[in-house]
Amino acid sequence: MNLTVKNVSKRYGESVALQDCSLTVQQGTFTAIIGPNGSGKSTLLRVASLLEEPDRGEVIYVDGTRVLEKDIALRRRISVVLSGNTLFNDSVFNNVAFGLRIRGYKREMVSEKVHEILGLVQLSNRSRRNARTLSTGEAQRAVLARALVTEPEYLFLDEPTASLDPLNTELIEAVLRESSSRNGMTIVMITHNMFQAKRLAERVLFMYRGRVKEDAESNRFFTTPRDELARRFISGEMVW
Ligand SMILES: Nc1ncnc2c1ncn2[C@@H]1O[C@H](COP(=O)(O)OP(=O)(O)OP(=O)(O)O)[C@@H](O)[C@H]1O
Ligand SMILES: [Mg+2]
Repeated sequence: MNLTVKNVSKRYGESVALQDCSLTVQQGTFTAIIGPNGSGKSTLLRVASLLEEPDRGEVIYVDGTRVLEKDIALRRRISVVLSGNTLFNDSVFNNVAFGLRIRGYKREMVSEKVHEILGLVQLSNRSRRNARTLSTGEAQRAVLARALVTEPEYLFLDEPTASLDPLNTELIEAVLRESSSRNGMTIVMITHNMFQAKRLAERVLFMYRGRVKEDAESNRFFTTPRDELARRFISGEMVW
């Protein structure tokens, strides 16, 4: 299934979060969204993942030639990892099991899948712990496990490794790389870490003041960005 965001605009009161943004995401690709604070990255992610409605424009998911209804069936093919710790006040196991239970999976299947995914993010020994007691790195791995356990076709991530140390970052990157390359998951990830964007993404969107200023193949973008602000941004100059 492919995604098209078409001429999307969104404002919150006086503040304009997105202005006429358009992009397409092909199934199986890995896209990084970068740009300064307040440039609209998280808003674009929420709108594209169907968590929020745009004021203008359209978000369209297409399977072959069929435009999909924005119903529960489509939403269940999409997982979103928002920024920060979004775990509920319950055990790690129950947090991760949530998506499977609402889909009506049988008890044994829930248990099997949860344990498998907790193994993948190296949290097998934290299964019974209350999620609120996890360290930042552990919590972020649990959040990722909760998003992955339902085997989504689309995975959206808002700064999944913000405030993590290199070891946790590497672990999460490895899981994302594996999900993308082996399982063909389509991934759209916001990051402030340019090295991470380079390492993982095949395509980069540079956002500035609510607009997608550059949409490019990753290697080309990081070697020769066409947009002057993008060039300054990735070379560490101040961009306002
Ligand atoms: N729920 C909201 N209510 C009011 N204003 C909002 C809301 N969400 C976003 N905005 C505003 O929209 C603009 C874009 O915000 P957004 O969070 O999308 O930026 P961002 O690129 O994700 O920034 P950051 O890198 O700091 O996370 C900002 O000016 C922000 O204040
Ligand atoms: Mg944000």
